[in-house]
Amino acid sequence: MCGIIGYNGKKNAIPILIEGLKKLEYRGYDSSGIAYFIDNQIKIFKEKGRISELEKLLVDDKPTIGIGHTRWATHGKPSKINAHPHRVGNVTLVHNGIIENYNVLKEELKKKGYQFQSETDTEVATALIDSLYQENDNKLEILEKAKNLLKGSYAFVIMFDDCKDTLYALREGSPLIVAKSKEGNLVSSDIPAILEYTRDYYLLEQEIAIITKNDIKFYLNREEVKKDMLTFTHDIKTASKDGYQHFMLKEIHEQPTLIKNYLDYYFNNLDLIPDISKYEKIYIVACGSAYHAGLIGAYLIEKYGNIEVKVEIASEFRYKKNFLTANSLVILVSQSGETADTIASLRLAKENKAYTLGIVNVVGSTIARESNQVIYINAGCEIAVATTKAFTLQVLTFSMLAYKLLKKNDSQLSQEVFSDYQILSDEVNKLLNFNYQEIAKKIAKHHDVFFIGRLIDYYLALEGSLKLKEISYIHSETYAAGELKHGTISLIEEGTPVISILTDITIYEKTISNIKETKARGAYSLVIARDNLNINQDIYDDVIKIPNLSDLVTCVLTVIPLQLLAYYVALELKYDIDKPRNLAKSVTVE
Ligand code: F6R
Repeated sequence: MCGIIGYNGKKNAIPILIEGLKKLEYRGYDSSGIAYFIDNQIKIFKEKGRISELEKLLVDDKPTIGIGHTRWATHGKPSKINAHPHRVGNVTLVHNGIIENYNVLKEELKKKGYQFQSETDTEVATALIDSLYQENDNKLEILEKAKNLLKGSYAFVIMFDDCKDTLYALREGSPLIVAKSKEGNLVSSDIPAILEYTRDYYLLEQEIAIITKNDIKFYLNREEVKKDMLTFTHDIKTASKDGYQHFMLKEIHEQPTLIKNYLDYYFNNLDLIPDISKYEKIYIVACGSAYHAGLIGAYLIEKYGNIEVKVEIASEFRYKKNFLTANSLVILVSQSGETADTIASLRLAKENKAYTLGIVNVVGSTIARESNQVIYINAGCEIAVATTKAFTLQVLTFSMLAYKLLKKNDSQLSQEVFSDYQILSDEVNKLLNFNYQEIAKKIAKHHDVFFIGRLIDYYLALEGSLKLKEISYIHSETYAAGELKHGTISLIEEGTPVISILTDITIYEKTISNIKETKARGAYSLVIARDNLNINQDIYDDVIKIPNLSDLVTCVLTVIPLQLLAYYVALELKYDIDKPRNLAKSVTVE
């Protein structure tokens, strides 16, 4: 979603703000802007479209303090006027998040004489802070008051006209980090924007940060507080393309190393993977791909742990009747750890006394901090909007949760699975080298694609289809293979691509019958199948073979061709793979 950068130091702020915004592009945006102090006045530049459009407007100033923003439209269409920074009276700010009570506030502010140019909730928040400033010029008091009046989620970086050497930052619900560096002090919504200058940062929580050229101070209830500094420990390359054409391709190729590191770490620290057998009810709650990882996870835990698991979409779970008790376990899966609906589900679970376990990538994120326990997937920065490496490591985490249960129940089988884990990284590597381009060319010609599978293969198919839709804009549907006959088969025409997943040895023959039904109606059939299955050539036009290992490992392998197929189809269609239209990396609003 939106991105924030702020700089206060001795260098020219403009290139630092622009480079910072470019590092945040991956979050998704449709307009951008910067504001800075120069010659005792504030200058604002903003434009619809890519940052390159904004750059065309910039002039040759050398300010040393400023703020910048990439906006992903929520209130009001993408336009210059709705873009940030917003300025009202003496206040200029950038904002991530959504102010839920902005309509009520807007009416009250209109009565005080404020007029609004944009359709945004942000302009209302700016006017609110300005109206508080008219009554009191103590900035901490103003911002504490604003916190009490604003409902919703926000991260703000603010400049006041009478305070030309200071930035103010505060947040609720949307992340902000603050960092000191030799080049000056920085504030940002995400780590990649600061990594060029420092690896050390503070995670803003309830405090207000006051950022001057030489110092950063934090205040809570107007008292100064000390905060612990965090350090970004991953390879800095995780935030760069490292020679690859796209972040997505680079992140796919990082997987063998990440998987190896993950398994080495967790097999040496098996206590960090909890035994989840003691709970009466287990829920997995997440959104999007993380939800698909949850579906795969539930399958593995049910099969190998013999425990029933319910999987819920977070935006549904938070509003439906719940049956949570103190004996329930709620597993929240989130790469960013900041997805609004997943956070709300976590809080709901805690209100109902359930135990919460976060499976999270971003260290120190809201879900990581608020869950009773967290398993970090250690994927490093994931920049491409379409998740790949984080998804794979989420699946691997569920595989480990199921493995832990299996180890208790069947030590011999668990020993075999252990051997499979040892070769997983190498097998992933081999799958990276298949020639997906030729198949991708065939799929790229079509407007509709179908994915089918049963049980775990259906859940894997859901993720394959989502990946394809997200970045290639080809419409695709996923069906539990047995459901095709109940309506959808009417859509199969001569040449329609049907991608079938056949790795579940207990059910693949049934899926083969369904593939035959689609082939009989002219479908182009791509089969992604476990190597050892008895499959006749008449059911496919193309086939991709997955090594025959335990289910706990094969599911991780099956993800790889699905990711690369989506990637190469989008490449063939020449789309902006790392920044698909309308999508945001981290969905911090409902
Ligand atoms: C798809 C994708 C999204 C996310 C979803 C949840 O490629 O990335 O579907 O999986 O928005 O995000 P997190 O995992 O950050 O909670």
